[in-house]
Amino acid sequence: MADYDLVVRGGLVASGVGTMRCDIGIRGGRIVALAESITDGAATLDAGGLLVLPGGVDSHCHIEEPARGGYVGTGGDLAVTVNEESFRTASTSAFAGGTTSVVCFVPQWKGEGILPRLADYEQRAAKGMLDYSFHQIISDPTDEVLEREVPQIVARGIRSLKVFLTYEPLHLSDEQFLKVLATARRHGCLVTVHCENYAAIKWRTEMLIKAGMTAPKYHAWSRPVVVEREATHRAIALAELVDQPIQVFHVSCAEAAEEIARAQHRGLKVWGETCPQYLTLTAADMDRPGFEGAAYMCSPSPRTEAEQGRVWEMIRRGTLDVVSSDHCGFSMAGEAGKAANGRDAPFRDIPNGIPGLAARLPILFSEGVSKGRISLEHFVRLTATNPARLMGLAPRKGAIAIGADADLALWDPKKRVTIANPLMQHAIDYTPYEGLEVTGWPVATVRRGEVVMRDGVVQGEPGTGQFLPRGPYDFIAPRGVLADGFDAAPRG
Ligand code: URP
Ligand code: ZN
Ligand code: ZN
Repeated sequence: MADYDLVVRGGLVASGVGTMRCDIGIRGGRIVALAESITDGAATLDAGGLLVLPGGVDSHCHIEEPARGGYVGTGGDLAVTVNEESFRTASTSAFAGGTTSVVCFVPQWKGEGILPRLADYEQRAAKGMLDYSFHQIISDPTDEVLEREVPQIVARGIRSLKVFLTYEPLHLSDEQFLKVLATARRHGCLVTVHCENYAAIKWRTEMLIKAGMTAPKYHAWSRPVVVEREATHRAIALAELVDQPIQVFHVSCAEAAEEIARAQHRGLKVWGETCPQYLTLTAADMDRPGFEGAAYMCSPSPRTEAEQGRVWEMIRRGTLDVVSSDHCGFSMAGEAGKAANGRDAPFRDIPNGIPGLAARLPILFSEGVSKGRISLEHFVRLTATNPARLMGLAPRKGAIAIGADADLALWDPKKRVTIANPLMQHAIDYTPYEGLEVTGWPVATVRRGEVVMRDGVVQGEPGTGQFLPRGPYDFIAPRGVLADGFDAAPRG
């Protein structure tokens, strides 16, 4: 009998700290050997001439997420929009792009608890092929939710709470946000935050619409950099008050990143994530003819080319240490699509969000590594190692190491591809990256020792994705408190 179920031979293995030329022996879905030469595998995958990367970990994906009112600006009717991407199509897309695990979102609808939605969402997620964990959205932090339900989801292995400081049906007041922070602190959860100022966006939106400025491009006008900077500053200040770690999601501009850098400099546990859209798209994309601009609409809004350069700088400095997709796909056509919900309406009513699960690694590799902006090791840290650590998925995910899950992306660093929607293998009828030329592309994806994509052909049995329970982990350990975060005298 062979020693290994699968041997990956002859590749250059890249980790977050360096590269080594070695073979990988896989047994029972895990990496059990790294050696100069391994020959006794029941199956072999030839990685000659290729890089072998840890499978991507995308810690910010909206998949099959039923949302009341979708992610709309400040209008927010109570229509139910189910995010079109199912766990099955998201898995196909992720594998096509070299990603093997995601952290996605369990919604909470105002007026409801979190447990009923969790049960529904668990059933949806179990139908995919990707490994997954959840952030729990808190949009209605009642005492019942915070005191009785949050401990139950923590016991089930969910260790991050997500809050929005904008969007009509979701945004929290400062008081509510503080309560969530204090609850997270008690139970050892990370809090992830969408930082934009709700009132400022609402005010500007009303003015724009009153002036007849309703086209998609005015989405960017409704939420300039300052609303993101202010909310980022406030989120950090309130987190500091409670002494609670946070991750600021989808940072689009240097001014917000500078708030994070200052917090990090003061020793606070504040992390920043950005996304490929803030490195490749601009607000001008929303000014395309007709309704086409809606295809690029996400929040925060894409900015300018100069701003993209500043975001790269914040990545290079390490201020922004995770690059996620914020995959949130709404087709342009179709019942749940952008046009059906927003073509004849002001920009405020168009669902916000763009697809990017499959494009994340190729874009970051091409724009980052191939163009010499970041090293290969930095790329691995941004896309796999750091999100896995920050989400408490390490050492199982995000690294090529003995004992880790055998999640791998075999990568051709020289392959040139023009991004086109069919290559994304998702359920959405477009990609905002259509026509973008990239250098570097995944040629095989391995999930827990199983080859789930080869030369663009995705396989894998629906229902084989595993839930990834997260226990307490080093930097987000629960801390004893007297009550709601007041276990210490205030600083200063
Ligand atoms: O526009 C976006 N980003 N849609 C997804 C929801 C969110 O804000 O992350
Ligand atoms: Zn967001
Ligand atoms: Zn998001």
